[in-house]
Amino acid sequence: MAQKRILLGVTGGIAAYKSAELVRLLKKAGHQVRVVMTSGAEGFIKPLTFQALSGEPVRNSLLDPEAEAGMGHIELAKWADLVLVAPASANFIARLANGMADDLLTTVCCATTAPIVLAPAMNQAMWSNTRTQRNLALLEADDQIRLWGPDAGDQACGDTGPGRMLEAQAIAERVDQDNRGVLAGQRVVITAGPTREPIDPVRYISNHSSGKMGYALAAAAREAGAKVVLISGPVSLAAPAGVEVRDVMTAEDMLAAAETAVDEGCDIFIATAAVADYRPETEADQKLKKANETMSLALVRNPDTLATIAGRSNPPFTVGFAAETNDVEHYATDKMARKKLDMIVANDVSQPGIGFNSDRNTITVFWPGGHQAFDNDTKAGLAGRLVRLIAERRQQAAGA
Ligand code: PMT
Repeated sequence: MAQKRILLGVTGGIAAYKSAELVRLLKKAGHQVRVVMTSGAEGFIKPLTFQALSGEPVRNSLLDPEAEAGMGHIELAKWADLVLVAPASANFIARLANGMADDLLTTVCCATTAPIVLAPAMNQAMWSNTRTQRNLALLEADDQIRLWGPDAGDQACGDTGPGRMLEAQAIAERVDQDNRGVLAGQRVVITAGPTREPIDPVRYISNHSSGKMGYALAAAAREAGAKVVLISGPVSLAAPAGVEVRDVMTAEDMLAAAETAVDEGCDIFIATAAVADYRPETEADQKLKKANETMSLALVRNPDTLATIAGRSNPPFTVGFAAETNDVEHYATDKMARKKLDMIVANDVSQPGIGFNSDRNTITVFWPGGHQAFDNDTKAGLAGRLVRLIAERRQQAAGA
């Protein structure tokens, strides 16, 4: 793991107490940390806390004659490998989005060429406010800036909703899993979620896929520098920042959307979707009525999107997923061989709390001649590691 020089910006918010733990974790991981506080932050936590934890003087003023004698703000901007602002308040986000340089932290952000990561923290109504969202949209379109979080849940003010800063542990892990640039210039197409196969106008066949694994991978691939198209079955997740989402409903729609996206240009194709293997032979025009004690539906096989893309004459690097309840390795590697894949990610969905519709997963990745197991982790955490492994395997396969 590469040691980084991290400039931690702390702005005014109750979540500033988590930043003290963040400094401790970053230092423990071997990084150098310098802290810049805004005047608002000092209302919540004292500079001395950060000085003691970082072992470095804390800077808080742009007009500090001593520090600025050596052009301290420019020196700080050049020193940092990463500028991490946690918590990033609504006020700071507004000032950054508009290019302001009216205190030390915004000035350093204007002067640095290092990546800038924001971990927003604010009340849920402030987060949802149209002006905040407009400012966030400006920052999301800025290649130098990444947003990590926020989480949703209980807030210090008693409200519940989006706006909680990510936990210090989660931010520190993401710093170490920083994949920035590993997929630079690559075009990645990902399928996610379930498909719905209509029986009649009000009923369908589907499954419990939530799309979380595919959306986490799309966010991680984008963060690694890829241009990402996410072909999504019906889910209730927000589009990851900077990712183009194309909504589909049925397995046939998914195949058509995937063929189009791959025709447009695709280096890596990742299929996390749980596609219905069969669909009703006919879709009734009107709602079916109860008649007998039992009823039968004639089902026909759906097309296989992943096998179709992998079977092309000049296929992209293809990664499949396999959700299995038993003989996981056997079934997963069999699927990899039958579908002619470069890699397959197996999850044992017989285990409670992982796989379908959960926030966590436990996976083993197989490729011809090798495998790697990953411990139980959040889908976001696994997505970062998978993106790195996919980038490495693809490079090795290309060089072989
Ligand atoms: O969405 P989540 O709630 O986060 O859950 C994630 C997940 C459990 C759905 C995901 O991690 C996963 O394992 N997806 C694959 C599910 C599966 O068992 O797929 P399969 O064995 O039916 O298919 C194998 C591979 O072929 C998959 O990559 C699948 O996307 C693809 N496939 C399958 C059938 C089909 N008609 N078209 C396909 O592209």
